[in-house]
Amino acid sequence: MIRILGGNRLQGEVRISGAKNAALPAIFASLLTPEPLILRNVPRLLDVETAVELVRALGKEVHWENGILRIWGGEELCPEAPAELVQRMRASFLVLGPLVARMGRARVALPGGCALGPRPVDFHLHGLARLGAQVELHHGAVHAHARHLQGTTIYLDFPSVGATEQLLLAGALARGKTVVVNPAREPEVVELAALLTEMGAPVRWEMDRVIIQGCAKLGGAEHSIIPDRIEAGTYLLAGAITGGRVRALAACPEHLWALVDRLTLAGAAVEVGPDWVEVEGPQRPKAVDFRTWPYPGFPTDLQPPMVALLARAEGRSTITETVYAARFGHVEPLLQMGAKIQVTGNVLVVEGVERLRGARVEATDIRAGAALVLAALAAEGVSFIGGDHHLARGYENLAEKLRALGAQVWEERD
Ligand code: UD1
Repeated sequence: MIRILGGNRLQGEVRISGAKNAALPAIFASLLTPEPLILRNVPRLLDVETAVELVRALGKEVHWENGILRIWGGEELCPEAPAELVQRMRASFLVLGPLVARMGRARVALPGGCALGPRPVDFHLHGLARLGAQVELHHGAVHAHARHLQGTTIYLDFPSVGATEQLLLAGALARGKTVVVNPAREPEVVELAALLTEMGAPVRWEMDRVIIQGCAKLGGAEHSIIPDRIEAGTYLLAGAITGGRVRALAACPEHLWALVDRLTLAGAAVEVGPDWVEVEGPQRPKAVDFRTWPYPGFPTDLQPPMVALLARAEGRSTITETVYAARFGHVEPLLQMGAKIQVTGNVLVVEGVERLRGARVEATDIRAGAALVLAALAAEGVSFIGGDHHLARGYENLAEKLRALGAQVWEERD
């Protein structure tokens, strides 16, 4: 449980951690080779711990100290991923491609439901089948077999982050070229492509596709994880919602233009440096409309925190969620805090209120949790936010970082 006494303007600097969503596929890339992989700037997060546990269970050795992760070994990997670890975190499903490519077979449980609405894995399975794997579903698990994977061209009906990563990972050890048409271009995907290139499977981006040249054996690599753009965005929004001034350090401004644009329209003053972004104010935000969209569009992971900001804006904002059918776990608790929000299909209409009020609320996923933390920072009175293990999945030292900015935040045992 997190307790927050709202009303303080956040002021100061906050150092952004390595990106969770870049660290996870990089850790799974270690399955492609027994050679050592060294990853720097790895954030201490529950999801990263789950990924480490998973590669260990599959046969890798791991050493993790001071943000540096060394992963090596595993000449033979266990081709069966423990269901409990896969179901804890959807990204675990990414072990499927590397396991089939290395071991010729794999069994990985379906990631199961989650709080963002239905999230199927059909693109992953269709793509692996196109690469020549025999894919079957038995008792809630995917069984895949392939003597070898054969590069081919795969079209994605939506630029899915996970499916693009899955196919790059599998394509790295496939024979010949694997071409993904309509790939995701999120910075985390581009980073995975850069890592695979360093490991010996060169990746090339073209206008509508990404092409990976498979390689019989991959080598190790040493790689630094990019800054977490979603964490950076969350702290910038924390500055904006409290009418304060927050500078996100060790960030990558190039990844944040969609947010910077909407923050400016909302009346905040945004300054950008080579590796930092600073936001100031406004006293009260102005309403802005936006829609979530694959990168470089407005990231769906910042939709809930942005909705928290707009909940106290002057005027009515219309938000269209185009990436997920139902990513609205933050709406009900925000209503309890005094927000006025209407949901129709995938559209949210937010009627800004002057003041939010503290309440006892429950986080249902990482980013819904972030939205509630932001609302609580700006609200009158005390809020209690349950379900904070979700926050620990995605935000390194959240309470500590917020306190350093002047927030009144306490972590409490339930
Ligand atoms: C990744 C991110 C997550 C982010 C999301 C969208 C990680 C670990 N997680 O999730 O934080 O919110 O990208 O930017 O990187 N879809 C299908 N079939 C599939 C795969 C996806 O229909 O086989 C749909 C999903 O249901 C969703 C949309 O495609 O509606 C986007 O999902 P996707 O880009 O795959 O998200 P993830 O990789 O799961």
